[in-house]
This record gives sequence, structure tokens and C-alpha cells, in this order.
Amino acid sequence: MIEELLDVVVRKRELQGDGVVVLDLTRRDGSLLPVFDAGAHVDIHIGPGLVRQYSLCSNPADLSVYRLGVLKDPASRGGSVGVHNTLLEGSEVQISAPRNLFPLAGEARRSILLGGGIGVTPMIAMAYALHDRGETFELHYCGRERCRSAFIEELANAPFAANVFTHFDDEGAEQKLDLAKVLGKGEVGVHMYTCGPGGFMDWVIQGACRQGYTEEHIHKEYFQVEVDTSGDSFEVVAARSGKTVQVAEGQTILDALAQVGIKIEISCEQGVCGTCLCDVLEGEPDHRDVYLTDDEKAGNDQILVCCSRAKSKKLVLDI
Ligand code: FES
Repeated sequence: MIEELLDVVVRKRELQGDGVVVLDLTRRDGSLLPVFDAGAHVDIHIGPGLVRQYSLCSNPADLSVYRLGVLKDPASRGGSVGVHNTLLEGSEVQISAPRNLFPLAGEARRSILLGGGIGVTPMIAMAYALHDRGETFELHYCGRERCRSAFIEELANAPFAANVFTHFDDEGAEQKLDLAKVLGKGEVGVHMYTCGPGGFMDWVIQGACRQGYTEEHIHKEYFQVEVDTSGDSFEVVAARSGKTVQVAEGQTILDALAQVGIKIEISCEQGVCGTCLCDVLEGEPDHRDVYLTDDEKAGNDQILVCCSRAKSKKLVLDI
């Protein structure tokens, strides 16, 4: 199925903090954009073959605009640098309809939002939604330095400003995040959400587990995942065409399949979005993504071919 893309224009562009560009995207004619739920992202078609996901951080109740924040990553493979360099005020760009892999739980007694650096973006949309619902929540925004962080002013002036707590490495001990205290004991109805750099998220998730939070109460969204293509070579059979290809060390299944003319739809190329998911008919995958749950990985019947490899000598895929 060909996805219908939305044509939008960069209505406003602002550099905030250290290397974050905040973009307001609207329809050119000012009509409303499709509905989205807090936690959703859009795919931005930055250039030919260059598609990246960014979380929406605007108020889901305001469909006149989609706001997003993009940190310029010096190690960027084109994505964030492309956004910074090409999406200027007035530029037109195509985006996907919003998709949500990081939704709020339906009902919560209390929600704790923990954003590290640019990982605060989905949390801002969540805070707008929780405030609108009249629910109990806190947003904790952690970063190295206040002056290098984006969204400070927006959060200070937001209708939910009283629910926002900032924690910066270079500020006083009194504002440091006491994770155990903030999380409290894991209880039914208390949900924790986190997004940020890998080390920050690991620390938060391990803390939540120690506090007794169960998997259903820990919600996480990864970004900037390194793709690890190390490991022995193995064979992949594309069952529908009968084509066989050898995946070399340092190569992805995706690239190996492309060499024999099999194209798989992709987006993030980092094991984050799930776009390249394929069914496994035979063999044992070596899952290296952060998209599938532990249970789904244990099922060994699906694989994300942009990043995962094989533990067996051969994988047969339903493609
Ligand atoms: S393309 Fe996003 S998970 Fe593979």
C-alpha cells in the first residue's frame, strides 16, 4: 500500500538551546492537520531516500500546527543535518500522517514523564494531553545545562508549568533528580514514560524496575540507536522469490537483499520504527532492535531487517 503523504510548510523555525531547531509545520492553506495522540511521531521526507521520524511536541488539541524539535547530531547520517540545513522558514516538505508507538495508557492514577535532553519532545505533547484530561502527572526534564536546553520557555509558560520539574547537571544539589523518590513504589495505575539518550533511559528503566514497576507500567521510546552489524555471515532466503543471499559481516540483511533486487520498505534504519518488519519462517534471529518487546523477540517469528542478524546459519523470510 502506498502511503499518502501530507504536504506541509515550515511556518516558523527557531533555534533553541544548543543545536536544536524547533519547527512549526502547518498546511499551506491553514486548514487543520490530521488528529494525533500524544506520543506520536511523523516521518519527515527530508530528501530522496532520506526519511526520519521525529516526535510531535505540540498540543494534540491544536491541529493547526505540528511542532517538533530536532537536535543536530554531529554523527548524523543525513537526517538531523538535513533538517537543519534544508527546512528553512517557508520550505515545503512532505510528512507521513502521525503514528503512535508510544501512547499514553488509557487510564492512570498518576503518570510520571521523564525526558532526557531532546527526549523531552514526546513528553511535552503528553503533558498537554494529561493536563487536558485533568489527570495527575509530573514532567521531569533532565539535561546537562539549562542554557543548552530547548523548550525551557515553553515549559515555563505552559498551562501545566506547575507540573514541570527541571534537573540540570550543572545546577544545585537541591534540584537533582531523586529517581526513587519521584517514582515511588510501582503500583497499579502508576505509569512511567521515558525517552532520551540510551544511558539515561537505561538508568531510569532500571530504577523503575527496582521500585517494583512492571513491564506494563514502564513506557519507553528510544532514539539514536547505533546499528551493530558485527557477527558471522549467514544466509537469507527470500521464500516468495526463492532468492538466496549471503549477509556478510558488517552488512545488514536489508543491504544484502537490495543486492539481489529485493526492496524492503524502510524508514529509521535503526531498529526503532518497525517499518522493515518481516516474518521469519525458519531459523533463529539475533534481535538487535529496540522495537519488538522481549516476548515478541522470544517468539523468533519476526525480524527487523535493517539491524538484526541471525544466530542460525540460515534465515528463511516470508518476503
Ligand atoms: S526501518 Fe525502522 S526498524 Fe527497520
